[in-house]
Amino acid sequence: MSKATEDIDFETDPEDLPERDDSTAELGAPSVVVHDLHVTYRVFGSKRQPVGGSRLKRLVAKGSAYAGAVTEVRAVRGVSFVAHHGESIGIIGTNGSGKSTLLRAVAGLHPPTQGSVYISGVPSLLGVNAALVKQLSGERNIIIGGLALGLSREEIEERFDDIVDFAGIGDAVQLPMSAYSSGMAARLRFAISTAAVPDVLMIDEALATGDAAFRKRSKARIEEIRHAAGTVFFVSHSLASVRAMCTRAIWLDQGVIRADGPVDEIADMYAQYVKELHSAGKDDRDAAQ
Ligand SMILES: Nc1ncnc2c1ncn2[C@@H]1O[C@H](COP(=O)(O)OP(=O)(O)OP(=O)(O)O)[C@@H](O)[C@H]1O
Ligand SMILES: [Mg+2]
Repeated sequence: MSKATEDIDFETDPEDLPERDDSTAELGAPSVVVHDLHVTYRVFGSKRQPVGGSRLKRLVAKGSAYAGAVTEVRAVRGVSFVAHHGESIGIIGTNGSGKSTLLRAVAGLHPPTQGSVYISGVPSLLGVNAALVKQLSGERNIIIGGLALGLSREEIEERFDDIVDFAGIGDAVQLPMSAYSSGMAARLRFAISTAAVPDVLMIDEALATGDAAFRKRSKARIEEIRHAAGTVFFVSHSLASVRAMCTRAIWLDQGVIRADGPVDEIADMYAQYVKELHSAGKDDRDAAQ
């Protein structure tokens, strides 16, 4: 299977997911405006290794070749879009296309190299990098996460049981998060991040590890946020989840927006592209044999 095809999770059964609710199709005012956004990473000491020669020779050469070498990775290259209150937007694209970088830049976690991001309200980035502390118990992390969301101690106490129930982690809430399975950790992160209705919620792959029941619960929570006029960004390799959760999709390719529009239209285009990539890869291999 080609790399790009592996990217898409064809396993998720759309039957698992409830019908999308398009009832709030009327859009509110703009909530996020991204204008000509560029994000460039600078990687130090990353000069390509000299090819050829013995491994030892290359190692010796490495010291001098690497000194002061800087490679620039242009992860996002001139992205512009406007998101509205009440909209949920799926971000799709193959590995390394810039999805996580774009979300981190919109959340203000990574400074843009060029361009600007205007955001009305407070963004909450939920993803593999959410600022929870692995060594601490689920309980402690609920408190830290709640405080980070701007909840008071009392509000956190009030919502504590709901958060644990939603995450479905039971007594494991007493254990350090380092002892959680990736699914449990992702569920807790989602439950914490949505304990206060955020203005802008960003979810990066976090739901991929949830089971069908959890996906249904999180889908309902996302609808709630949308109805409360929030904006949801949802990065996922599961096209079925994107179709079920989002009203609109943005397809990123090598840091550039390849298409932006109604979710079904864009998801169809992307699926077709990946299929073509896959069969082209197969043809290459066939030809090589
Ligand atoms: N911290 C970093 N330092 C240097 N380069 C990075 C860094 N993070 C990402 N990149 C590069 O930026 C590009 C975009 O990466 P990004 O993680 O945004 O892609 P993605 O679409 O989220 O991929 P995936 O589907 O695998 O999660 C890639 O070429 C990646 O190698
Ligand atoms: Mg990513």
